Amino acid sequence: MNAPIVLELPPDLKQERLPKHVAVIMDGNGRWAKRQGLPRIMGHKRGVDALKDLLRCCRDWGVQALTAYAFSTENWGRPLEEVEFLMTLFERVLRKELREMMQEDVQIRFVGNLNALPRSLQAEISRSMADTQNNRGIKFTVATNYGGRQEILAATKAIALQVQQGLVQPDQIDEALFESHLYTAGICDPDLLIRTSGEMRISNFLLWQLAYAEIYITETLWPDFDRSEFHRALCSYQERERRFGKV
Ligand code: FPP
Repeated sequence: MNAPIVLELPPDLKQERLPKHVAVIMDGNGRWAKRQGLPRIMGHKRGVDALKDLLRCCRDWGVQALTAYAFSTENWGRPLEEVEFLMTLFERVLRKELREMMQEDVQIRFVGNLNALPRSLQAEISRSMADTQNNRGIKFTVATNYGGRQEILAATKAIALQVQQGLVQPDQIDEALFESHLYTAGICDPDLLIRTSGEMRISNFLLWQLAYAEIYITETLWPDFDRSEFHRALCSYQERERRFGKV
């Protein structure tokens, strides 16, 4: 039997010490499927369910922003059938979930090199971002065809162009200016990064934005990451003292 869903913030978590923004690297879908004797794609399908529940849980417990790594620039190297399945899955999920996102006041945003995605997926992405842009609930960011190094290079090129055109002086380049050229402009940095399946890597995810994030790694595979796992991650986060380089 599944554990009951905990809608209220568990009493051992303190609202004022919750991370404002949680980022997740959803790893282990393929291994989960293999363990069940299922094709890898079934792991991704179950991964969507886990992500939907985490989004709801963040909303129920008062976390203001969630960012998920759905597809990296390196993921194009996977077998063609898996890449095509993922692209179709993203599109289908967006089409199916848009109404509920509106009802639940979710503001969705995609970050990454979106121009390289299939046209039909780009159209769903644009529609979902436009329809939800005035929603005031949780900010849900999906990194798709995303690479942290590529993002930093794109920002650098944009600033170099402005310098070349005389619009910006080199000594005006500070963190605020740089951040305004990142895909994530306007979204606060994640306070907590969760990675499932036990890998101890950042894998080119939000390289700039994770500078001061607390990192939580669990052996649990992504499709099994549920509210009790999230509860454990938040307990670990609340026990830490964040010093941002100070004493
Ligand atoms: C990593 O597991 C997972 C992915 C590359 C895909 C994650 C995407 C989703 C859960 C869908 C999200 C959908 C929307 C619309 C936001 P893996 O395949 O690397 O697992 P393995 O390491 O066990 O092989």
